[in-house]
Amino acid sequence: MTTAVNNTQAVLRLEGISKRFGGFTAVDDVSFDLPAGAIGGLIGPNGAGKTTLFNTLAGMIQPDSGQVSLNGAPIHTLPPHRIFSAGLARTFQIPRPFREMTVLENVMTAPAGQAGEKFWNNLLRPGLVARQELALRDKAMSIIEFCDLARVSSDAAASLSGGQLKLLELARVLMSEPKLILLDEPAAGINPSLMVTLVDKITELNRQGYTFLIIEHNMDVVMSICEPIMVMAQGRLIYRGNAEDARQNTEVLDAYLGDLP
Ligand SMILES: Nc1ncnc2c1ncn2[C@@H]1O[C@H](COP(=O)(O)OP(=O)(O)OP(=O)(O)O)[C@@H](O)[C@H]1O
Ligand SMILES: [Mg+2]
Repeated sequence: MTTAVNNTQAVLRLEGISKRFGGFTAVDDVSFDLPAGAIGGLIGPNGAGKTTLFNTLAGMIQPDSGQVSLNGAPIHTLPPHRIFSAGLARTFQIPRPFREMTVLENVMTAPAGQAGEKFWNNLLRPGLVARQELALRDKAMSIIEFCDLARVSSDAAASLSGGQLKLLELARVLMSEPKLILLDEPAAGINPSLMVTLVDKITELNRQGYTFLIIEHNMDVVMSICEPIMVMAQGRLIYRGNAEDARQNTEVLDAYLGDLP
């Protein structure tokens, strides 16, 4: 007898996630798997519960019920910093840089996951700290270059365009080399040329082994790089599958795609 083996391990597995705010159910019994190496797309109309679901995955809010596992280990009971250390990093729908700090400072101060910032090194091993800071700076600069922000690395974050802020968010997340990156509307409000840059960066990082889950309203972005696609409406997951089938699915068309230009 042969046993079917599923070779594609799920990086992320959601089982029956629900979140209520008072009497309102924002996320309603959502379950899906995201395979390692995927760029998953999470789409749906405004208020569908997408950001709330991200907040739940990242530990910012506790689900009322259900389970989340990252590479097979449960994370839904952990605080945000433990989930982050386990390898799940996210960006915000509205970027949150330190506005007065430069781009380089913003990237260098991004939480690095596991890097040693033990304060006693400061007292005992000044040479070591200097070397570590140099290494951190080198790493930050190479990420900044990768994200096409080298030209503005000494500029205050406050002076960046909306699109550059999205790239800065991505750069900050990359400092921790997460296993799974959640992006909340990375293409919102960015101009078409930066959009191409952003999509290129995501695909390049994906080729290097990063797994993504992306909330996005821009259907060109979603349809060109995301698979699988998950569609939420009124808190529920109404579809999981490929882009082609999503376009033919009447429930998806009724809830979302049918209303888009
Ligand atoms: N902290 C909260 N307290 C009460 N209601 C909330 C809270 N957070 C979200 N909601 C509600 O939950 C619903 C889902 O919101 P959410 O932000 O998750 O939607 P979304 O799918 O991300 O929408 P958008 O595409 O507009 O970003 C909305 O009706 C919202 O008003
Ligand atoms: Mg949202």
